[in-house]
Parts: sequence; C-alpha cells; structure tokens
Amino acid sequence: MTGTVSLPKWENEQALYHTRSEATMQRMNWAHGVLEPAPEIRETARTLGQLDGIFQNASAWRAMDPGIVVYRVQAWCPLVEGVEGGLFWGTTLVEPGQVDSEYFMTHGHFHAKRDRTEYYATLEGEGALILMDESRKTWTEPMTRGSVHFIPPRIAHRVANCGSVPLRCVACWPSDAGHDYEAIRKSGFGAQLLNVNGEPKLVPSRT
Ligand SMILES: [Fe+2]
Repeated sequence: MTGTVSLPKWENEQALYHTRSEATMQRMNWAHGVLEPAPEIRETARTLGQLDGIFQNASAWRAMDPGIVVYRVQAWCPLVEGVEGGLFWGTTLVEPGQVDSEYFMTHGHFHAKRDRTEYYATLEGEGALILMDESRKTWTEPMTRGSVHFIPPRIAHRVANCGSVPLRCVACWPSDAGHDYEAIRKSGFGAQLLNVNGEPKLVPSRT
C-alpha cells in the first residue's frame, strides 16, 4: 500500500507505522538540511514584523523593514499534532542579521506539555541555542556544524544566528509536545544574546 496519506486509526499502532512509513517517507539534503517539498511538509517563514516584542530594542526593530525574513521552518508531522507516542522532524534556517546589537533569532517557546524534550543538531553556521528554565535562569550552548543538543523537560528554547551565513539546524520532538509561544510573548527570556565587541554575550533582559 503506497501513496495514501489518509490517517490510519491510532488504536492500530502496527497499521499506523507500517502505512505511514511507506506513505510518507521523506528525503533531506544533509548538506543543507532542506527537506524535499512534499504535501505533508509545512513550510513557514517568520518576518521581523511578525516578531513584535521579541527583540529588546523596540525602536530599532520598528525602524527596520518588517518584511525581512528572520527564519524559515520546515516541519514534517506525519501524525496529527497532539497524538501521543509519535515524533516530528523539522529544519530551521535562521538568517544572519541583527536588531541593534541583538542577533536574529527564533521566537522561542516552552513545550505546551512541559515535560516533553527535544533534540537539535547543527548542520551549518554558527550560533547559540538559548535555554531558559521556569525560574527564568537563561544560558546558552554554542551551535556549530555537528553539534547535537538535548533540550531537557521544562526548558524554553530558541536559536540565534551569531555568524555571517545562515544557521541551519534540524530538530526532533514528540508529537504531543505542543508549543507555548504565549509565555515567551508575555515575559520573554531572562537574558538576550547581544553582539558585544564582535562576541556573543548574554545580557540580562530589561524588565
Ligand atoms: Fe521545541
């Protein structure tokens, strides 16, 4: 049975995995982390204008072209989001750039189910995985080609590009993790990653 994309019933796990693996096998270019376009791959782009309140210097953000693309995401979600027990796969490309001295970065999120975890791995570029616990303690892990990162439970995460070329990474996360963007929209992270004399430096956020 090939070519069908109708969702089998989750109760019949064997049928689900068998059918889905045949029907939805994807290909990725590992050099560039790009999934081949397919109906089941969702592609989104986030522009500066869509990242209101994310960057520290609001007046510098307002002065920039809101149409500039900051990052792009491809998400391969072969199960219905929210179903327990599956895994999703995604690729993210963060463009090089800054708002004032703050590096271009993704919006960031906690998982809606806070105990869900995730892997990130870097394919190209230089950047930082910015992590924050629920007490707002914030830290980073350097992202370079080949770095693999485990995001523990109850940790918010975002990716910043500290280099001069696109930062490309892949991610794998549970199908029932969900995304809580609102918590970040309201309170942000505990620190911002700024370019200080050419080096990335975490600086406590203004509250
Ligand atoms: Fe996540």
